[in-house]
Amino acid sequence: MQKIFLVAGARPNFVKIAPLWHELSRHQNVDVKIVHTGQHFDEAMSRFFFDDLELPVPHYNLNINGGSHAVQTGKIMEHFDKVLEQEMPHDVIVTGDVNSTMACALVAVKRGIRTSHVEAGLRSFDRSMPEEINRIVTDSVSDLLFVSEPSGLTNLEHEGIDGEKIHFSGNVMIDSLISINNRIHHSRILETIGVQEHKFGLVTLHRPSNVDSTSRLKELISWLKETANKIPVVFPVHPRTGKRLEQIFSENTAIQNIHPNLKMITPLRYIDFQKLLKSAQFVITDSGGVQEETTWRGVPCITLRNNTERPITLETGTNYLAGNDLRLAGSIINDCIAGRTKQGRIPELWDGKAASRIAEIIVR
Ligand code: UD1
Repeated sequence: MQKIFLVAGARPNFVKIAPLWHELSRHQNVDVKIVHTGQHFDEAMSRFFFDDLELPVPHYNLNINGGSHAVQTGKIMEHFDKVLEQEMPHDVIVTGDVNSTMACALVAVKRGIRTSHVEAGLRSFDRSMPEEINRIVTDSVSDLLFVSEPSGLTNLEHEGIDGEKIHFSGNVMIDSLISINNRIHHSRILETIGVQEHKFGLVTLHRPSNVDSTSRLKELISWLKETANKIPVVFPVHPRTGKRLEQIFSENTAIQNIHPNLKMITPLRYIDFQKLLKSAQFVITDSGGVQEETTWRGVPCITLRNNTERPITLETGTNYLAGNDLRLAGSIINDCIAGRTKQGRIPELWDGKAASRIAEIIVR
């Protein structure tokens, strides 16, 4: 039996491990187990994703909630190491670029366990992002590197990583999206929120660069209010952003009442979010995964960051990089409302079969 551990900690990881879980579980001589670090723990950020993606209850939950980066990373390493000591799997698979990814890759590789990084090679070239540090460290220690877009191949080559380790496998996040696609029609989220198909904008913001600074967050909220004067805006609020908003707005201004057309709601489960994303006229985001999902669906995406580690979404997809320039973002939104948007193409190997290509290489 080949024992394989799949690690997940934060919301985007759940979407990435799901197709790998389903694919690896089909193999007869494979014993696959899920380790949840606990980095994301609210029901809406975790359990509902397991349900929608038909994942089992994690075999191990390290229950590491909150803390600074150092505390979070250190605790995950300590607890994951104990699990590895007990189980000694043949393989550990980590995905993406969150703290759990880097922490578990470091521990596994030091125990001599073959470590695979899924979504390797992406680079924003912005070391102020915690994710960039996580990507560089994880790629430099992992044994197998599975790349989702061509820029990943170039970046790893420039860093001098042995080409034998690198595989262009495609995008597992798109595997998940395709697998639930025919279930999103059952979602009643548009009715629940009170918006109509293609007549609203969708917003997600959680990056420290946008939400940790009070002045930037205030500027963003007043800009979203202006946008909401033109078209309804739906904003599922990430816990990090929610905590910051609570600090900024006084207790008597509930964030739901900031503007009647700005619908601030709690984080959504995967299927409901995909329904909204597919139905939106445009999406405003600072998330990595949302840039990819909008590209696959052909929905215009305005990214409020100065860079992206996913350049394919700009080159062939529907993504626009607006940086901090909200005037530019506003004019792109006006173009979207007027129906003037760039036509994208689906990138190579974003075809729903990435997990099966990865499993073929990992399973002996
Ligand atoms: C993390 C990832 C980021 C990813 C994002 C997706 C890192 C460095 N960052 O950012 O790359 O894009 O997840 O969502 O790993 N919290 C809750 N409930 C939860 C989850 C978080 O209250 O279910 C709170 C935490 O306690 C903390 C804050 O939200 O106070 C931020 O959580 P954290 O996991 O540190 O980082 P994210 O901003 O979620």
